[in-house]
Amino acid sequence: METKKVMLSGIKPSGSLTLGSYLGAIRNWKDRAKEFDCYYFLADLHAITVRQNPADLRRCTMEQLAQYIACGLDPEKNTLFIQSHVHQHAELGWVLNCYAMFGELSRMTQFKDKSAKNADNINGGLFTYPALMAADILLYQPDLVPVGDDQRQHVELTRDIAIRFNHLYGDTFKVPEPYIPKVGARIRSLANPEAKMSKSENDDPGRVTLMDSPDTIMRLFKRAVTDCDACVRYDPENKKGVSNLMTIYAACSGKSFPEIEAEFEGRGYGDFKLAVGEAVVELLRPIREEASRLLMDRSYLETVCKNGAEKAEYIANKTLRKVYKKVGFVAKFN
Ligand code: TYM
Repeated sequence: METKKVMLSGIKPSGSLTLGSYLGAIRNWKDRAKEFDCYYFLADLHAITVRQNPADLRRCTMEQLAQYIACGLDPEKNTLFIQSHVHQHAELGWVLNCYAMFGELSRMTQFKDKSAKNADNINGGLFTYPALMAADILLYQPDLVPVGDDQRQHVELTRDIAIRFNHLYGDTFKVPEPYIPKVGARIRSLANPEAKMSKSENDDPGRVTLMDSPDTIMRLFKRAVTDCDACVRYDPENKKGVSNLMTIYAACSGKSFPEIEAEFEGRGYGDFKLAVGEAVVELLRPIREEASRLLMDRSYLETVCKNGAEKAEYIANKTLRKVYKKVGFVAKFN
């Protein structure tokens, strides 16, 4: 029997999922189950590298699970699970910490950005986060890791760690490839097109979340920062705001940038912003409605978590045992 390739990714439940996480990541996760064995998890261990309110973290985790399903990830066809339910992540994370170099970890741009933003809480977890992320990935031996552009560096470090480990101990890990979308890999904040759209609560007034009402979405787009050119043209260097809106519109409508430029030629930004807002409302409407419905069915969501964690643990355990043996740990006596 031919074995399927494996795809894996995760998102921190550190706030409401945004249009950025949808276009940069989740959109590329769905409809893959025919071709790939798919594992998608909720990265709660990662979320606590930044202080979280415990009640909010619990709520966001279950909401995010409902949103995964509402985005089209059928739990019958994809393995959906909460990271902390599969203890092998933390265990392999520790081992890989010992194979990730201080210099490598120091070069991670996300560490530098996050430590600047959380100067009062630059904890060890924030620094060693990429080793845990490498463990998340390598446990499942995936071929592809679909992420947005900001995670590319972490997936590259994962590859380096896997290659290093394989070199020391012989073939242990499959070396995965990042899979980054051509359009939508870096969605910017509508309020500040210099920055990425961020999901952390209250962090970004220009973020659109999957659960926003149509009114809120339209308001955010009407207020989106553009420029004074009054010309819809794709120029990500000099027209970041407009190019970001064009990217969102392209991702929602499937239109190319020249087609969008032609559609809005001679028309002001007002029309353009309305069109982008309406496209996003229609894209997110079924997701919001389905997620709200699923959130009413707590026992279904719990069953999904339980089944997902069982399936994930089975695979994760195989890899962890192999690693423990390779590094020289004495196997447990029965
Ligand atoms: P996180 O939770 O910050 O983001 C989740 C996913 O969404 C993508 N993304 C974006 N894409 C485009 N534009 C944006 N504005 C935007 N914001 C977020 C991210 O690139 C990411 O793919 N470390 C990861 C979570 C993680 C993980 C893993 C991912 C933990 N372990 C193993 C893959 C494999 C993170 O913080 O993503």
